[in-house]
Amino acid sequence: MRRFENTCVLVTGAGAGIGRAVAERFAREGARVGVNDVNADTAASTVAAIEHAGGEAVALPFDVGDPQAVELGIAALVTRFGPVDVLVNNAGLTDFAIISRHFLEGDLDWWDRVLRVNLTGTFLCSKAVALSMARRRRGSIIHISSGGASHAHRSLAAYDASKGGIEALTRAMALDLAPYGVRVNAVVPGLIRTYEISEELAAERGGVVPLGRLGTADELAGPVVFLATDDARYMTGSVVRVDGGVLAQQRSANVDVVPPSSFPHVPMADS
Ligand SMILES: NC(=O)c1ccc[n+]([C@@H]2O[C@H](COP(=O)([O-])OP(=O)(O)OC[C@H]3O[C@@H](n4cnc5c(N)ncnc54)[C@H](O)[C@@H]3O)[C@@H](O)[C@H]2O)c1
Repeated sequence: MRRFENTCVLVTGAGAGIGRAVAERFAREGARVGVNDVNADTAASTVAAIEHAGGEAVALPFDVGDPQAVELGIAALVTRFGPVDVLVNNAGLTDFAIISRHFLEGDLDWWDRVLRVNLTGTFLCSKAVALSMARRRRGSIIHISSGGASHAHRSLAAYDASKGGIEALTRAMALDLAPYGVRVNAVVPGLIRTYEISEELAAERGGVVPLGRLGTADELAGPVVFLATDDARYMTGSVVRVDGGVLAQQRSANVDVVPPSSFPHVPMADS
C-alpha cells in the first residue's frame, strides 16, 4: 500500500532501532521522509537505505533538545518536502550507561540530560510543526513512550518520569489540537530488540513476555504508521501498547503459579 503519497513525515531518532524501521515503513508507503538523528552518520545510512529501496528521504542531523537546531532542521525539511503532515517523536536516550542510576545516586545533571532529550525534545519538535498542522486542519503526531510511564523500571527514575510526561503530554496535546483536526497519540513499545545481545539472553528476556519472545523494531512500525492513516481518524489521546502482552500481566510467565506450560494442550491445525 502507498497510503502516504504526497505527504511529508518526520521521524526523530531515525538513525537506528525503532525510528529507522518506522522511517523505512513510511517511505515504502510513499511518504517523503525527514530522517532526524543526532548522529549524522546513522541518519545518512537510513536515508541511503530508503533511497536504495526507491524512496525519498533527507537526513536531518540535529539534536531534538536544542530549540534553535530543531527550528532550523524542520525549516530545512519543509523547504525540501513541504509542510510536515506526520511527526513521530521517537528520539530518546537509551544508553544505560547514561540513563541508569539508582535514585539515591542520581543528580540534577542526570535528570536534566534525560528530560531534555526525551520530554523537552518531544515538546520542541511538536511545537515546531503544530501551528502549521493546525492551520492546514490536518496532521498526526505520534509520541514513543515506554512501559516505564506506567510501570517502573529499577534505577530509571528520570527515564520513567520522562515517559510519564510524554503520556501526559499526549493527552494534553490531543485536547488542545483536536479542534484543529490534528491528532496526537502515543505508542508504548515493550521489550524490543534494538541492541546487541546473545540469543541466549534474548530467549531469557523473551521468556517474561506473554507472546514468548522479544519484539523487533519492525513490529512497531506497522502500529505507528497505522496511527497516522485515515483508518485511525477517530483516534486521538490514545496510548497504544505494542508489547507482546507485557503490561497486561500481573506476573511474568516464568514465575507464574499457573505457568503457560500447564495450559491445556491444543493440537495445531493442519492449515
Ligand atoms: N527498544 C525498546 O525496548 C524500547 C522500549 C520502550 C521504549 N523505547 C523507546 O523507543 C524509542 C527508540 O528506542 P530504540 O530502542 O530504537 O533506541 P535506539 O537507541 O536504537 O535509537 C534511538 C535513536 O535516537 C537517537 N537520539 C538520541 N538522542 C537524540 C537527540 N538528542 N536528538 C536526536 N536523536 C537522538 C539516537 O542516536 C538513536 O539513533 C526511544 O524513545 C525509547 O525510549 C524503546
